Amino acid sequence: MRVVKSPKALQRLATQARQAGRRIGLVPTMGYLHAGHLSLVHEARRRVGADGLVVVSIYVNPTQFAPTEDLARYPRDFRRDSALCREAGVDVIFAPTDLYGGRATGRYSTYVVEEQLTAGMEGASRPTHFRGVTTVVAKLFNCALPDIAVFGAKDWQQAAVVQRMVENLDFPLKLIIAPTHRESDGLALSSRNKFLDPQQRAQATVLWRAQKLAQARVRQAGRGGVPVAELKAFIAALVAAESAARLDYAEFFDPKSLVPVETVVKGVHFALAVFFGSTRLIDNGRM
Ligand code: PAF
Repeated sequence: MRVVKSPKALQRLATQARQAGRRIGLVPTMGYLHAGHLSLVHEARRRVGADGLVVVSIYVNPTQFAPTEDLARYPRDFRRDSALCREAGVDVIFAPTDLYGGRATGRYSTYVVEEQLTAGMEGASRPTHFRGVTTVVAKLFNCALPDIAVFGAKDWQQAAVVQRMVENLDFPLKLIIAPTHRESDGLALSSRNKFLDPQQRAQATVLWRAQKLAQARVRQAGRGGVPVAELKAFIAALVAAESAARLDYAEFFDPKSLVPVETVVKGVHFALAVFFGSTRLIDNGRM
């Protein structure tokens, strides 16, 4: 396994791999890896084959954090991450120290902005977030030159936004969206779970319970569906019943266009964000 620090060095390595006929699979991460990330690595390996090159990027991207957010306290543990990558059969870790060399000197001034799918949900709660995500992901694609890139379904809106960027900007790669990994009680794995105290951790299952109960209600309603206001009120009450939880949003929408629906029927997508203190958790699923 190699650890590469500079974009140019990764481009050289990726170009050589491509010339040798090897397929490249990229798994973009911000590190502090868990079983969810490793399942993306295994998916990348499955797709590119034993001869392929699996690249994991580990970079806590500053441009996707607002000044008020948790960039400084975002968990980092490169030694542990690299041990996990080695064990998982990763070929290359791309771990740049800085991808915006000119930012401090005012020479970084290029951003990628998706203008439709970023309007609601995470985009509404975190207005500068997706500009940072699309910019860094475009940079990572240009560095790793992947044939496939694997993203987790846990960040559903992010996956949809990146998919749109790939289509709109003609990136020659296929995006793979891999399923969310969960704890046995349903909590989606996230690097931010480590910030939860025991009470918050116990109550955090409300994200999963909300989803399951909404699914059951929609199934029970059958073809006519359920008015979205009814489901939102139900979820708000469920979250309010947890003393440590504060609902940020709960939305029901078309899984591709992300356009909100009025009536929730089978196949509609659901996403929610809940604060536990200053830790914000997200989850999503299909009705
Ligand atoms: O999902 C993440 O961890 C990040 O948003 C990503 C895609 C690695 C970009 O920094």
